[in-house]
Amino acid sequence: MLNALTAQAPDKILALMAAYREDPRDTKIDLGVGVYKDATGLTPVMRAVKSAERQLVETQDTKVYTGLAGDPAFSDALSTLVLGADKPVDRLASVATPGGTGAIRQGLELVRMASPDAKLWLSMPTWPNHPAIAKYLGITVAEYRYFDTDTGGVDFDAMMDDLGRADAGDVVMLHGCCHNPTGANLTLDQWKTVADLLIVRGLIPFVDIAYQGFGDGLDADAAGMRALLAKVPEALIAASCSKNFGVYRERTGLLMAIAPSADKLKVTQGAMSTLNRLNFSFPPDHGARVVTTILTDDALRADWAAELEDVRSGMLGLREALATALRDRVGSDRFGFLAAHRGMFSLLGATPDQVEMMRRDHGIYMVGDSRINIAGLNDRTVPLLADAIVAAGV
Ligand code: LMR
Repeated sequence: MLNALTAQAPDKILALMAAYREDPRDTKIDLGVGVYKDATGLTPVMRAVKSAERQLVETQDTKVYTGLAGDPAFSDALSTLVLGADKPVDRLASVATPGGTGAIRQGLELVRMASPDAKLWLSMPTWPNHPAIAKYLGITVAEYRYFDTDTGGVDFDAMMDDLGRADAGDVVMLHGCCHNPTGANLTLDQWKTVADLLIVRGLIPFVDIAYQGFGDGLDADAAGMRALLAKVPEALIAASCSKNFGVYRERTGLLMAIAPSADKLKVTQGAMSTLNRLNFSFPPDHGARVVTTILTDDALRADWAAELEDVRSGMLGLREALATALRDRVGSDRFGFLAAHRGMFSLLGATPDQVEMMRRDHGIYMVGDSRINIAGLNDRTVPLLADAIVAAGV
């Protein structure tokens, strides 16, 4: 049987991690995978996470299974963080999942179960695992234009034109904030305009929010998504705690579905729990319990939010520093978009050859589409990257 297997194409982000590890140069710089790093290159365990874990060690008296949907207290706490205090409780179904990827996977399984012929519209470009999972599940993928390479901003007219061609019942994947890989985001008004288009054309939004708190702040990052969700009749939302709680390996995520009516809540929740059962039974609990402990304790929550705010402002500072270093070198604001982008990522606009040149000549690792992880930089490496960008002729 196993003789029939053929080699699978490696995920380009994970392949890059491996290439970086194998590079012997001690001057190498990792701007690849989307993991936060502090100025010393470490991905620390957040203070509030450590405290919550200590509390759990002391107080947890069983490791017996949770429910198929995970701990209801986790769903409640995280859905409020993501959707806000006025979330539509009477229409909100949710299941804990293994990370944000698990939430995307379970959400796409739900799409396939409910509407096997629906197409999935993805921004061009998007996180490579979106099309990979959809195609694996046999869901037809369509692309909408999103990024304007000339300005480094969103090509909103092109996005609206392309989504204007979607068929009723199609699903539109939107990045809740901190677009991965481009760093370019919709304005609040644009979110509302997208919502109106979805309603007119009968399209269903699927929001992937994996970087809440990394852009303009916890509530500001969710504002556009919340404005859209307030308008549309139904929606899916995949949330990740990997980045904003720094619990990457604990696999902590939540899939939420806003049902079209309260009558449909029970059957929606049942379908989502069944899909958990079919794929892995009970979702991982440790990270979810840590997150719940933090979000439901005023002191821990305040400390977590303060540390997250430091992470966010650190990345903004690095954005400013890189844009300034490039302005000094090229004598124009051509790279000003780097300061305007939000989140962990920006697309530089370099060609694959230029990306390769920066890797070969300077040991700088970025994804082949020229996505850089801003958090991989520090005060010492910003000028090195700026020099490399100029030397490569970007
Ligand atoms: C990324 O885009 O680098 C992260 O979301 C990590 C991953 O799983 O790809």
